[in-house]
Amino acid sequence: MKIKGAVLREANKPLTIETLELEPPGEGEVLVKYVNTAFCHTDLHYMLGEMGELVPYPFVLGHETAGVVEEVGPKVTKVEKGDHVTATWMIPCGKCPQCQRGRGSICTGNLWTLSAGQLPSGATKMTDKNGELVFYHIFVSGFATHMVIPEDGAIVLPKELPLDQGCFMGCCVPTGWGSITKKAEILPGDSVVVFGMGGVGLNAVRAAALSNANPVIAVDIEGSKEAIAREFGATEFIDSSKEDPVERIRTETGGLPVEGLGFLGGGVDVVVEAIGDPGAYIQAYWCLAAGGKLVAPGIIPAGQEAPMQLTFLPLQEHSILGTLYGSISTDIDIPRYAHMAMTQDLKLDKLITKHFKLEEINDVAEAMKRREIIGRWVCDLD
Ligand SMILES: NC(=O)c1ccc[n+]([C@@H]2O[C@H](COP(=O)([O-])OP(=O)(O)OC[C@H]3O[C@@H](n4cnc5c(N)ncnc54)[C@H](O)[C@@H]3O)[C@@H](O)[C@H]2O)c1
Ligand SMILES: [Zn+2]
Ligand SMILES: [Zn+2]
Repeated sequence: MKIKGAVLREANKPLTIETLELEPPGEGEVLVKYVNTAFCHTDLHYMLGEMGELVPYPFVLGHETAGVVEEVGPKVTKVEKGDHVTATWMIPCGKCPQCQRGRGSICTGNLWTLSAGQLPSGATKMTDKNGELVFYHIFVSGFATHMVIPEDGAIVLPKELPLDQGCFMGCCVPTGWGSITKKAEILPGDSVVVFGMGGVGLNAVRAAALSNANPVIAVDIEGSKEAIAREFGATEFIDSSKEDPVERIRTETGGLPVEGLGFLGGGVDVVVEAIGDPGAYIQAYWCLAAGGKLVAPGIIPAGQEAPMQLTFLPLQEHSILGTLYGSISTDIDIPRYAHMAMTQDLKLDKLITKHFKLEEINDVAEAMKRREIIGRWVCDLD
């Protein structure tokens, strides 16, 4: 069938909106009519070549998506035609050492097909108008009107959850929530700082607030993000373009500046870096109390470095914890988050501040580069 998709043919070039040929679903695969896909900063990293060219060109970009199952291939048992689903960008193989330890979000078995722009089976499904292969973007390729994905990558969502919120179940909700509840293992009363008030950081703030963390301090270099940070539950907002968040947080929490060593004492239990900026990583680290955890979903562009002064890493038992997909189990945790979105106020309606058309996607990327996006902008794929 013919589909429309946003194709990245080269880093640092605009996406092209192309008509592509999509093969029908094979065994264990489903055809999904994508309805909404949100623009995540990882998409921008790929457009700017900041992921070290992990996926071969050309590929259809996008990975935070939700849609409706239109057709199922042979032997599909998990989903049915008409189901609402999100597509996951990590599909645990179940066999590799990480999967066998219950850590499917860092599955290494399927990493090779992911980075080859294929489905876990090795299949590719798309060709362009010249009959040339077009690859997958991390098993999802969300900026397209339709896509064939494996049933293992399709997670059923409640039909009552609007699809423009359901798409967040594909990335920023699990990443933000998992950073707080899975990786930081937050306890009521823990003090939290979140750097970066984008889709990931706002969900981390919401998770911290609903987990009774206190205080929940939001940091962003754009003062325009203050209102949404507070809406999601931040008790304090620091505009890091105007003041040094380390100095403010360490002194507010009882720390003292010490010549040559930065600060001693004070600091918070958990800091989340949800930006991917070397300078912000260093600031985030210096906000930690003794025994504190720096949880790091933010992806620093390939080729950039964050020089860290780590004298206190052993002396104060700091932890620096990378997290992919919020360290979740996609099959178990995404349905839980979707259920929570129906029963608690995750504020997902407030996360959407703009709907856009596929043809406008390059403007959206430019707006994200300029840090103008408040919350998430969501593509309508009609
Ligand atoms: N580890 C994972 O599984 C995973 C999943 C999703 C996203 N990510 C990564 O997380 C990061 C955040 O993604 P997002 O979609 O929320 O991004 P976003 O662009 O929506 O938000 C980033 C926010 O950081 C702010 N910011 C930028 N530079 C800053 C600085 N130096 N100091 C303070 N604030 C600054 C921006 O104003 C913006 O509000 C990206 O690196 C993305 O690739 C990782
Ligand atoms: Zn695996
Ligand atoms: Zn993402």
